[in-house]
Amino acid sequence: MRMPGIDAPKIRTRHFHEAKANGTKITALTSYDALSARIFDAAGVDMLLVGDSAANVVLGRETTLSITLDEMIVLAKAVAVSAKRAMVVVDLPFGTYEISPNQAVESAIRIMRETGAAAVKIEGGVEIAGTIRRIVDAGIPVVGHIGYTPQSEHALGGHVVQGRGASAGKLIADARAVQQAGAFAVVLEMVPALAATEVTQDLSIITIGIGAGNGTDGQVLVWQDAFGLNTGKKPRFVREYANLGADLHTAAQNYIADVHAGSFPAEQESF
Ligand code: KIV
Repeated sequence: MRMPGIDAPKIRTRHFHEAKANGTKITALTSYDALSARIFDAAGVDMLLVGDSAANVVLGRETTLSITLDEMIVLAKAVAVSAKRAMVVVDLPFGTYEISPNQAVESAIRIMRETGAAAVKIEGGVEIAGTIRRIVDAGIPVVGHIGYTPQSEHALGGHVVQGRGASAGKLIADARAVQQAGAFAVVLEMVPALAATEVTQDLSIITIGIGAGNGTDGQVLVWQDAFGLNTGKKPRFVREYANLGADLHTAAQNYIADVHAGSFPAEQESF
């Protein structure tokens, strides 16, 4: 069975399990606003991730660490309004779950209650498994996130591939702990393709890769990277499917030229 069609009702966690069983690849994109969410949903993307990468690509900040739960909730609400079919998943931002499982459950409940999203995502492996269990027990579907975890970038020594050599054992231990805790999916970020394939084969839950090769059950990309709106330095794992940055630059230049020339607005654009 394939994933539900474009006109089908909402995608549920069971559809992802079925997709894994059938070898149907799962697609995910980040989204942080109503208009991009509407376009990606209509295009047939299975999962819309309101990532804390919004701190970088929406708010222009250096790291993801400073984005707050309130800020995430505003963005997630906008995405959830537009998503008719795709599952909307929202990141638990840094500082909203580490202090205690109770804090994590409270943050996850706020996301579910105030946004209309269907699941939360949380970074960490073995060390966060107890917290994942508590959120799942509260009736909230959870996506894990292991390998390179941007909220720990200072502890990890920067943007570096994880799960190489001796740390391959940690990757599989983290993946198993996240699955055992009840997550229905796990993001594998910046890990060697072979290790990601092994983890995918080992787990019964779905794996979604970003910089993890093509052996995972699905893929996710930050849309501003994939569609060329982010004109800054991009990671090697990004493929550019459009050049929206250049298109917008040209469009803005054309608009400026028309206004300067007095040709905009024309008669038919005036009352
Ligand atoms: O915040 C985000 O966009 C993410 C993806 C990189 C998976 O966590």
